[in-house]
Amino acid sequence: MFDDPQSPAWEPLLAAAWAARDHAHAPYSMFQVGAALLTSEGVVFGGCNVENAAYPVCLCAERGALSAAVAAGLKPGGLRAAVVVTDVAELTPPCGACRQALVEFAGKLPVLLANRSARQLHRLENLLPHSFTVGHFR
Ligand code: THU
Repeated sequence: MFDDPQSPAWEPLLAAAWAARDHAHAPYSMFQVGAALLTSEGVVFGGCNVENAAYPVCLCAERGALSAAVAAGLKPGGLRAAVVVTDVAELTPPCGACRQALVEFAGKLPVLLANRSARQLHRLENLLPHSFTVGHFR
């Protein structure tokens, strides 16, 4: 299902990511990003990037979606799939901080990158190999 980038199972996530992207607050980069996360309970959470005049305060779409999911009860191990959408030719992978944030909730996670015409499927464990987790100190 989520090992096939063309699977219809991605559609609700893609729809949520594009819808969230419409609300991106990106007046500085002019680069609107949408993300969506699917939980093991079958719930989809969308997120968009939220920029700020104080640049370091900017929040990525993926962590916005993650925050919404956690606020609704997501626990570590509870993520099933992720989507990142942008409207540029080169597909947008999650930044390093977002990869680390996602690893906390799903070590293995299918991550679909998409624009209006292309899709590319990755797995989080390949995007962030040798990741630091709670097991390294506890
Ligand atoms: N951005 C995301 O929202 N997600 C990513 O994975 C990459 C970057 C946002 C942050 C900033 O608002 C804009 O894209 C340019 O870096």
